[in-house]
Amino acid sequence: MTDYRALNEQLKSLIEGVPYRIANLANASALLWQEVEELNWAGFYLERDGALVLGPFQGKPACIRIPWGRGVCGSAAAAGETRRVENVHDFPGHIACDCASNSEIVVPIRHAGKVAAVLDLDSPAFSRFGPEDQKGLEAFARILEEAWGKMD
Ligand code: SME
Repeated sequence: MTDYRALNEQLKSLIEGVPYRIANLANASALLWQEVEELNWAGFYLERDGALVLGPFQGKPACIRIPWGRGVCGSAAAAGETRRVENVHDFPGHIACDCASNSEIVVPIRHAGKVAAVLDLDSPAFSRFGPEDQKGLEAFARILEEAWGKMD
């Protein structure tokens, strides 16, 4: 089980005083990749012109643009709520970027009252992400939200 308290402390130290969004999201995805077990993808999609566009990530090359409301990412963005999917093959409209993915969690990141990005983690294991992962990753996303306005 990931120690999310320690992970989130590491994230805070990594981004402390760094005003560059791409640099911070790149380090955040590398940190998740290093510390969270059984992942095949970890990264971000960023809101752009009403869609989600691929941001910094670790894993295989992924789809570049996801329409708002589509797939697990677009669904989480449109609802402004975390989507924790035990079996992606059962999720209507799931977008398969890496056929190794079997479960997924997507956490929205809000700024100025809107969803500005989503954090997306994929796993080759079914039901990889439980309530504790959700809690830890939502806290991870909150740290990025707090810094969002100070990064460009
Ligand atoms: N599976 C996602 C697409 C992004 S990849 O997992 C990196 C979805 O259904 O939105």
